Amino acid sequence: MNFNQRTTTVILGFSIVLLLKDIIVTKSFAQTLIPIETQNNAFVLEAEKDKDLSSIYFGKKLVDINEYKLVSGLYKQTEEYTGLANAAYTPSGSRNLLEPAITVTHADGNNSLDLRYVSHKQAKVNDNVSLLSIVLKDPVYDFEVKLYYKSYFKEDVVEQWSEIKHGEKGDVVLQKYASANLHLKAKSYWLNQYHGDWAKEMQPEEARLTHGIKTIDSKLGTRANLFQPSVFMISLDKPATEDEGNVLYGALEYSGNFKVDLELDYQDNLRIIAGINNYASPYTLKPGDTFTTPPFLYTFSNQGKGNASRKLQSWARKYKLQDGNGNRLTLLNNWEATYFDFNENKLAELIGDTKKLGVDMFLLDDGWFANKYSRNDDRAGLGDWQENKAKLPNGIGSLVKEATANGVKFGLWIEPEMINPKSELYEKHPDWVIKQPKRNEHYFRNQLVLDLANPQVQDFVYGIVDRLFTKNPELAYLKWDCNAVIYNAHSAFLKNQSHFYIEYMNGLYNVLKRIRAKFPNVPMMLCSGGGGRVDYGALQFFTEFWPSDNTDPMERIFIQWEYSYFYPAISSSNHVTDWGKQPIKFRTDVAMMGKLGFDIVVNKLPENDLKFCQEAIKNYNGLKDVIWHGDQYRLANPREGNVASVMYVDEAKARGIIFNYLVNNRYGSNSASPIKLKGLDPRKKYRITEINLFPGTSSTLDVKKVFSGDFLMNVGFNPDVNTSRTSVVLEFKEVK
Ligand code: DGJ
Repeated sequence: MNFNQRTTTVILGFSIVLLLKDIIVTKSFAQTLIPIETQNNAFVLEAEKDKDLSSIYFGKKLVDINEYKLVSGLYKQTEEYTGLANAAYTPSGSRNLLEPAITVTHADGNNSLDLRYVSHKQAKVNDNVSLLSIVLKDPVYDFEVKLYYKSYFKEDVVEQWSEIKHGEKGDVVLQKYASANLHLKAKSYWLNQYHGDWAKEMQPEEARLTHGIKTIDSKLGTRANLFQPSVFMISLDKPATEDEGNVLYGALEYSGNFKVDLELDYQDNLRIIAGINNYASPYTLKPGDTFTTPPFLYTFSNQGKGNASRKLQSWARKYKLQDGNGNRLTLLNNWEATYFDFNENKLAELIGDTKKLGVDMFLLDDGWFANKYSRNDDRAGLGDWQENKAKLPNGIGSLVKEATANGVKFGLWIEPEMINPKSELYEKHPDWVIKQPKRNEHYFRNQLVLDLANPQVQDFVYGIVDRLFTKNPELAYLKWDCNAVIYNAHSAFLKNQSHFYIEYMNGLYNVLKRIRAKFPNVPMMLCSGGGGRVDYGALQFFTEFWPSDNTDPMERIFIQWEYSYFYPAISSSNHVTDWGKQPIKFRTDVAMMGKLGFDIVVNKLPENDLKFCQEAIKNYNGLKDVIWHGDQYRLANPREGNVASVMYVDEAKARGIIFNYLVNNRYGSNSASPIKLKGLDPRKKYRITEINLFPGTSSTLDVKKVFSGDFLMNVGFNPDVNTSRTSVVLEFKEVK
């Protein structure tokens, strides 16, 4: 039974259902159930005309849709004083006593809001996607909120956002404007959250939520995730494991300041209120204008974290990530090979090395631009996007030609949102820079942020990209960096400084939309000195992100592991560099778990190291389709034992790859027990072989044996990881 059919059967009381092609309009005069159902889950709302809209169920889908209304009656919790404790979008200033989703100051200065259900509409976007909208209105003020729920049936994902408008006689100030307001019931709630800093991204912490409000937020403006990303998990009743337990994943699709309030209320229910951070941002809304919040994204699984993450990854590839089902370019980057010190001859050599290594593209990093204040270190030149004449007298064009002549593609680094005070741009347009007029400037990596709230600055940033591609149509890739946070938030352009953080993000998204309208297919990496920026608001424009500047492979096993819960492998740019003490094999194997790149001095590689890399790239090319588009299973958690193991399998369950690493160097550390594989067909037979062997070494594994999927999933396979085999890559194939 599909979503719409079930919707029509649950209108209670005296509802009239009008079927208009694929749209169902419900005019309801009594109690109405509004279920948002996906393949496995249901999120059920209840409304009565002119009454509050409440959340009455969140969890596994029930067989009988009419039983959702029985749920609330089974809870004998403490008194409900307001009728709003489980509101679907909690207004403030009237009956509410808890954390609101929305707070406003009306045109007449009054601070109260009451939101009552008016109507809802269900539209089918396609066979898999439905869009529900619900209109809520204040009975006293001409003020309306429309809640949107876009549900993806197969992937069990919901995106939720709101549109706020009014017809009052003057401006209304939105003091708070969340995207979503969820309400969960369980015996206990376990929050898995992340914190970090440069080179220490995605450090997980899991703890039981206690009563009161736990807030995950950012006030950094740009690279908003540097200290804390908006992604989180909530396990119900007990901490979910990889394969067991009830778990909700949440994330705000927004690249600016965010706020997620997790309120364990006096009735022991969990209220999740997520949206743009209202910090320093009361928003003045004119009559007739609409304020649209960014989507809050969630998925739920009753089969543990692994299942939830595969659903999210598959949703992202299909619906959100730029070119999620497409291809990616392997590359050689020159950042750590040269830093700012290069010229045309050196780059020509590196382009030759790109070919020799066997990757698809050469990526020229920071340092190629600026003349009056040359970009020879990170203290000058940012903002002056003309080729540096001393380093590149023949411009980017000649490098693109050189790459083409070598049979490889050419990509380029930019950091277009930022400016060094030591730049011609700063001299010309000091008013384009975010800074407080009466205060000293404060720098992050010697730079300031350009004021994207200003349309002229948006044109400038768009122009950088437009000019590069117009002048060099064969330019194949952009790495878009963003290193500074916003200090001294102030725009010389904006009249209302309270709009600053929001208008900055609107400006950034405008630029990215314009870029994508003109250059829909060019791959772009979302880089921010590491994972300070990855989120699904940005990833709709970018093909990949840079998880961390920390490329020490031991660290990367942990960092990539945590990102993989929320983002698919195809979006994770992993480069082999000289960070860490591990041999080239270990470094390359780890980088192969996503989108492979290199940032090493190829001509200094010992012969066997180069041979190994060339062979590994060939293996990668043969298996990248499974890594990028297959299902990922985390088999052994590096935080729980000596070995980390991650597996990828194709849709047909016929072939795949397993990466295994020793993460503990103590005496005798090894893979003592077999590791259970997942996601195979129990009836199929598989042969497992070891690939990525370093020249001169041979595998300790017996490749003659054939195993059933049943055996591999219930007993497992031992990759024989030990202190002399610290990284083992296995390929498996169905034997017919
Ligand atoms: C930070 C990035 O993460 C690095 O990869 C490199 O592009 C530098 N910026 C360049 O300044």
